[in-house]
Amino acid sequence: MITIAIANQKGGVGKTTTAINVATALAATGSKVLLVDLDPQGNASTGLGISSAERERSSYDMLIDQAPVGECLMATRIPGLDLVPATVDLSGAEVELVSVDDRTGRLRRSLSHDAGHDICLIDCPPSLGLLTLNALTAADTLLVPLQCEFFALEGLSQLLQTVERVQERFNADLGILGVVLTMFDRRNRLTDQVSDDVRSCLNDLVFEAVIPRNVRLSEAPSHGLPALIYDHACAGSQAYMRLAREIIARLPKQRKAA
Ligand SMILES: Nc1ncnc2c1ncn2[C@@H]1O[C@H](COP(=O)(O)OP(=O)(O)OP(=O)(O)O)[C@@H](O)[C@H]1O
Ligand SMILES: [Mg+2]
Repeated sequence: MITIAIANQKGGVGKTTTAINVATALAATGSKVLLVDLDPQGNASTGLGISSAERERSSYDMLIDQAPVGECLMATRIPGLDLVPATVDLSGAEVELVSVDDRTGRLRRSLSHDAGHDICLIDCPPSLGLLTLNALTAADTLLVPLQCEFFALEGLSQLLQTVERVQERFNADLGILGVVLTMFDRRNRLTDQVSDDVRSCLNDLVFEAVIPRNVRLSEAPSHGLPALIYDHACAGSQAYMRLAREIIARLPKQRKAA
């Protein structure tokens, strides 16, 4: 299994939308996909139509009780896509983790028991705390959604510093899969300028596919569906399909040396 953490400590930049739609696109290619909701907000779980009442075991159990992943996941209505949901308990996990052994390696240990998935995506919360550190320690590689706005690059350098720290201390093999520009608005000149800056700074690390600001992407979660299912033809869904194809092309290089 190859594990991809989707992280950016900035809130509301499209992490969860990217996680849900890339997971769906990858499952549509025939891969067995696992999405781990590691955000106490539980948006990935809700966006996949899993109500709080349906969430029995969760990512909290993986982190705190070291439950094997197989006991915590559930099927979604998307064929080939399983979910480890998040529950409100997870908001306490950050504090509870401080006093346990191997506090950054717990998600990795639980995921190591996985059998049967080809790709695991981890939807991180908007912070660089212990939840995100667990995701980066468990991951082979990192996918960063970046919204084209003025402070985007500053936030990114902070994230990349965290990646270096994780590489030094917990996970030497952590790679960077790439940066995807989200909520792109062609009519906004600042967006264009930031996008140019990001590309000239990060070059090939930035995916060609750009996710436009698209109202269908924001409507889909209220129907409990990935946009890719809710409206396959909309510009946002088509952009996520292109992104998924680029991700598949990049993945072989990201696999951890056994
Ligand atoms: N390309 C887009 N076009 C329009 N709306 C979008 C787009 N991407 C995401 N949204 C909407 O913007 C909001 C934030 O997106 P999302 O939840 O994916 O971000 P996030 O980074 O996961 O947020 P958080 O940091 O709170 O976890 C949501 O309401 C979502 O539906
Ligand atoms: Mg989110």
